[in-house]
Amino acid sequence: MTDATARLDPYNEISDIDRRVFGGFVEHLGRHIYDGIFEPGHPAADESGFRTDVIDLVKELGVSTIRYPGGNFVSGYRWEDGIGPVEDRPRRLDLAWHSTETNEVGLHEFSDWLERVGSELMLAVNLGTRGTQEALDVLEYSNSSAHTAWTDRRAANGHPEPFAVTMWCLGNEMDGPWQIGHKNADDYGKLASQTAKAMRMLDPGVELVVCGSSGRGMPTFGSWERTVLEHTFDDVDFISCHSYYQEMGGNAQEFLASGVDMAKFIESVVAIADTVAATKKSEKRIMISFDEWNIWYLHNEEGGQNDKPEEQGWPVAPRLLEDQYHALDAVVFGDLMITLLQHADRVRSASLAQLVNVIAPIMTEPGGPAWKQTTFFPFSLTSRLANGRAVRVPVDAGTFESDKLGSVDKVNAVATIDEEGVSLFVVNRSVTESADLRVDLSPLVAALGRSVAVVESHLLHEDDMYAANTLESPERVGVRDASASVDSDTLTVSLPAVSWAAIRLA
Ligand code: AHR
Repeated sequence: MTDATARLDPYNEISDIDRRVFGGFVEHLGRHIYDGIFEPGHPAADESGFRTDVIDLVKELGVSTIRYPGGNFVSGYRWEDGIGPVEDRPRRLDLAWHSTETNEVGLHEFSDWLERVGSELMLAVNLGTRGTQEALDVLEYSNSSAHTAWTDRRAANGHPEPFAVTMWCLGNEMDGPWQIGHKNADDYGKLASQTAKAMRMLDPGVELVVCGSSGRGMPTFGSWERTVLEHTFDDVDFISCHSYYQEMGGNAQEFLASGVDMAKFIESVVAIADTVAATKKSEKRIMISFDEWNIWYLHNEEGGQNDKPEEQGWPVAPRLLEDQYHALDAVVFGDLMITLLQHADRVRSASLAQLVNVIAPIMTEPGGPAWKQTTFFPFSLTSRLANGRAVRVPVDAGTFESDKLGSVDKVNAVATIDEEGVSLFVVNRSVTESADLRVDLSPLVAALGRSVAVVESHLLHEDDMYAANTLESPERVGVRDASASVDSDTLTVSLPAVSWAAIRLA
């Protein structure tokens, strides 16, 4: 057992929190759209074919902005295929996921669904097979209120008012050799700059995300960011980060250090962006859109890829990337959310990849139920409880050695402070030792001028860390009361090995 001490000082502020950090991502991939959010004929489907049980779960999850329609998919996508009468829409081959896209769901349908779930649209344009002109076309169709051929078509398709999309991604993972239209940093940087300038001429209010690296381990990581930002610094607001984590070789302790890897990724990209700013003698700060992050069992033990879509032919909505998450995954996931909040000053947008059926917190069966995966709990609790501003919570609990990352803190925490109260999020990353955490609240109590009490506390932990929720056993894993208490300005909570907790004080 470890004795852990921490201090919650409200003046140790990181920044206010942009709610867009609790975003999601919906790609035309596998059973995400078809048989996921959209299943006409399902007993819970509404008049438009959207599953209301899924809508309820997405609302409960609490996702702010949702990135759409990809992902790798967008780099071969013709957005016009998804507008107009559904019966006239073409079936197309989706080369990214070796599937057939029916185009039954497009911009209008997805925007309707977003209204039902109460989330905001973030669009990605295709800079793989397409370029500046098509980006301008979809922007004009979506955002213009002028009278033009595109806005006439939008009105004829049932949406006279603009969709008013603020955030736009300039392509997807253009550094990745797997990407259709993959480019080197110079070629992509020039195209992104030219496209961004033109998009701003059409709509100066857009916020633009340029592609960063699709992982910290990419061979071009670092030089990609520098070159791309040298071309686009004046034209964009955000640079993207993408990162997926998984347990390899049964080494749970190493996997539990994933938050440190994410922190190093963010801090490196910030350093590069600020270096480019310095060379340009600019005060402008490029923010990070961490617009793909999650646990994903992408690789098998031999280093190969787990999902092989090409082995299934060209099916409609095949079962792809349907990872089943266990309690250990959810604890690492909770730590990734702590890490995002610890960098709230520069991570102003993030998208959990993805939402339904595809590496997702929500699973469905065709004609059957929808249920919560283990990762649902840390996301929904953090999204609901983390408001206002983020505050550092230094913890002294000792370290363990990670093969890849060196010395790693056993316990990691962050707090948020809003008008009504304070939330503490904490993870015990040790696979062997529980931690008795005592948090000194005296700076908080002094600043407030009154004492605080625990109003809710949630613990995510399973003695069997590989326990998961499944179709047969959808409620096997959940959260329980963390039994946190406050006595004489000290918050006390016991954290079993491999656990995550959220505690609300008021
Ligand atoms: O989220 C799954 C895939 O991961 C996305 O399509 C792609 O952008 C990334 O490589």
